Parts: sequence; C-alpha cells; structure tokens
Amino acid sequence: MSDRYIDFANSDFGRRLVGAVGLPSPAHLERWQGGRLRPVDGPLLLGGGPLAAKVAVFAGKLTAEAYGAAPLPSWTAGLGPKVKAVVFDASHIKDSEELKQLREFFQPLIKSLDNSAHLLILGRDPHSLNDPLAHIAQRALEGFSRSLAKELRDGATLQLLYVAPEADDQLEGALRFFLSPKSAFVSGQVLFLEPCAVQVSDWTRPLAGRKALVTGAARGIGAAIAQTLARDGAEVILLDVPQARHDLEALAARLGGRTIDLDICAADAAERLIEALPDGLDIVVHNAGITRDKTLVNMTPEYWDSVLAVNLLAPQRLTQALFDSGTLRDDGRVVLLSSTTGIAGNRGQSNYAASKAGLIGMAEAFAPLLAQRGATINAVAPGFIETHMTAQMPFGLREAGRRLSSLGQGGQPQDVAEAVAWLAQPGSGAVSGQVLRVCGQSVLGA
Ligand SMILES: NC(=O)c1ccc[n+]([C@@H]2O[C@H](COP(=O)([O-])OP(=O)(O)OC[C@H]3O[C@@H](n4cnc5c(N)ncnc54)[C@H](O)[C@@H]3O)[C@@H](O)[C@H]2O)c1
Repeated sequence: MSDRYIDFANSDFGRRLVGAVGLPSPAHLERWQGGRLRPVDGPLLLGGGPLAAKVAVFAGKLTAEAYGAAPLPSWTAGLGPKVKAVVFDASHIKDSEELKQLREFFQPLIKSLDNSAHLLILGRDPHSLNDPLAHIAQRALEGFSRSLAKELRDGATLQLLYVAPEADDQLEGALRFFLSPKSAFVSGQVLFLEPCAVQVSDWTRPLAGRKALVTGAARGIGAAIAQTLARDGAEVILLDVPQARHDLEALAARLGGRTIDLDICAADAAERLIEALPDGLDIVVHNAGITRDKTLVNMTPEYWDSVLAVNLLAPQRLTQALFDSGTLRDDGRVVLLSSTTGIAGNRGQSNYAASKAGLIGMAEAFAPLLAQRGATINAVAPGFIETHMTAQMPFGLREAGRRLSSLGQGGQPQDVAEAVAWLAQPGSGAVSGQVLRVCGQSVLGA
C-alpha cells in the first residue's frame, strides 16, 4: 500500500504547510538498487578513537570518497562536501568526562549531512569492562545514540555497535549494512558484535553457495526476503500453505528456486520438511505468521491457539528438528520474524504479542545451543511495514503506526528483507541471540 502523505509532504506546497503547522515531514528514503557496487554513494567521514584508523584501511571498498582518520584527507564542517555516512569510534572513552567528544564531533556535522545519511557509533560492551568508570561511560553511549537518532532529519539514521576487541578487524560486513541504504528503515538500534570464524568472500554475492528456506514466502515480507536472498546469491526454497501454491510457484520460477507446499503446523511438518531437504540447509527464515486480534476478554481458544501455533510453536519445533537431524548445516543461520508488538505489546493482540515476544526468547535461548556448531539465531522485529497485513488496519491506527517513529513513515518489505539477508551472511556469525528492530525507530517499545 502506498503512503501518499510522503509525496505530499515533499511537494512545494506540502513542505510549506507541514512546516507551518508542525506536522511530521517524512523524507523519501534511499533504498538499495540492484547493480550498485559500493555501499556508500558519497563522502564517508571517520572520527574518534583507534577503530577509525582500522576502518580507514578498507574505506576504499565502501566509498570512493573518505575523510577523517589518517591517512585520509581531513574534513571541515561547512567547508567539506555534505556527508553521506559517518563512523565515530567511541570505544576509547573510559570516563564520562570524555563523553564531551560526542558533542564536539557530531554537533558541527549535523547540518552537513546529505539526504538519507547513515551514522554509526562504535563502542565496547559495558558488561565486558572491568573498570566501573569505563562501564558507565560506554553505557552512556546508548542514551546519546538513541536521542541523536531521534533528532536527525531527511531520512538519516544512527546506530550503536558494541564491538568485542577480537572483532576489531571484522567490521566490514556490519558497515556494509549499517552505512548503506540496506538499513534505510533501521535507526536507534544497539547491537553487539563478536568475532566470527567465517567471513564473506565475494561481496557481490555474499550468500553464494548457500541454501535458504523461507516460510510464508508466497507474498509480503516473505516474498521480499526470498527475492533478496536470491539476489545475494542464495539458492532459495520457498514454503507456504498449499492454498498459496500458485503465487509461490510463480515467484520460485522467477527466482530459480523451488517450492514446498506445507502447513508448518501440520503434525508431521518436521518430518516432511526434513524429507524435502535431503541435502541440508544453511539458512532458515521463519517468516510465516498470522494475526487473530481480539481483546483478551473476547479471545476464543481458537484465536489464541492458532496464533501461538503458527508464530511460535512451529518455528520452535521445526528449528529443533532441523538442528537435531543435522539438516541445518554447521555455520547455519536462523532468522525469526518477530515484531515490535512483541516488545511494546498492543491492545487486542495479547496472543500475537506473546508469540512474537516468545520468538525473541527463542533467539536468546537457542543461541548458545546453535553456537556449538557455529550456527546463529536472531530475531528481526519489524515495526509498521506496508503490506497486506497493515493495509487491513483501520485508518487511524494505520496513520499512527506510520507516523509515530523517527522516520515518520512505514517501512517497505525490502527493508525487513535486507536486515534478514545481512543476518544470513557468513560473517554475521558475529551476531547471535539478538533482536534487530526494523521500525524507523518507532516510539512503540522504545
Ligand atoms: N506487515 C507488518 O507490518 C509486520 C510487522 C511486524 C511483523 N510482521 C511479521 O512478518 C511476517 C510476514 O508478515 P506479512 O505482513 O508479510 O504477512 P502476510 O500475511 O502478507 O504473509 C504471511 C505468509 O505466511 C503464510 N502462512 C501463514 N500461515 C502459515 C502456515 N501455517 N504454514 C505455512 N505458511 C503460512 C501465509 O500464507 C502468507 O503467505 C509475519 O511473521 C508477521 O507477523 C509483519
């Protein structure tokens, strides 16, 4: 479903009216286009501590124009070109008095950001630090990042990455995602990066040689995920209920993939799935999901049971079975489609919210188990995404869902798909047991 307000707010008349009455002014977000080679299309500015110099070493692979850390040319606010991406290393900050470096670095450049600029702050996991003063200062980065993300305009985003020292030389994969339009609808997020034994060898096809299963792939977000994984080189296997066979087969034909007609809640779903995948699997995306909304007072057992069965019990059972049978190969990647509703809760969605919060628990609980075989499991929590599901919402709720976020709009299925594709990469073994929100920094659950 299209959001005509964005076009209006960006027209000459709309811009003046929106500014005069203080309405939200969402920007047209830049998104990744096929055939693009470099993640950053414009100047990249590096600053702060020693990790900036590490990024400078491979900055030429990210962009044609980088400034800041030696040996790169320097950049001066107001004089240098507008900046498309920024990395500030705050990992060296050991005392809260030094936090002023954040103000000194970011304040002058706010007005020199290009449209849809992507900013990234690097830090150290506060819990990994023995020095209490360093713990406090590193923890402070989170409040700063989330607040600055809310102040940015024109489609700019900002995230905080806590990097384990052993991962200092493995930043490229995360930067390729967070500094590029692939993370157009991700903002105000905090993630932890650990070292990872495997890395991507060909950035034009980071999933080459990998076999990926996507459930609920016939339409909406699932179809976008299948398309994006195929774009990145994966061989895709699309699964949906038998009633969706027509759409599923049409998509599989376009992507050169194959299909599995299966209700993931069927009593023999695990056996049938394992049977259909004799050569094993590298990536599983549990995307199939349903809503059956009612306030708890009116909730029928059927509504409760069906939502829990599709959204939580099936992913739980199938993941366990794929892992136990060895169908999910070593270094496998599991991605669960949660929701910001699982974080914030929502009136009339106690069943859905329980299922989606349960998926976050599943990522946390299964991560150590899967780590024994180099595999990871993470949850992606979309906020308001323009799909068939959200088109059914009443107008008022739909508008609130779109505007109550820092980016002032709903996301596209592609935004969720890009996050899933990043977590599915070999090098993303650095991230496990975590939740990545794709919600434009929605106020819900923030
Ligand atoms: N659209 C949003 O704004 C939004 C927000 C947060 C989370 N999500 C989550 O993202 C996922 C995809 O959402 P969407 O909007 O694309 O939904 P959708 O309703 O458009 O598509 C869901 C797909 O899952 C399939 N499916 C349902 N039950 C199944 C079963 N038992 N076995 C196999 N396949 C089954 C459906 O046939 C359908 O093709 C869901 O898990 C949803 O909860 C969506």
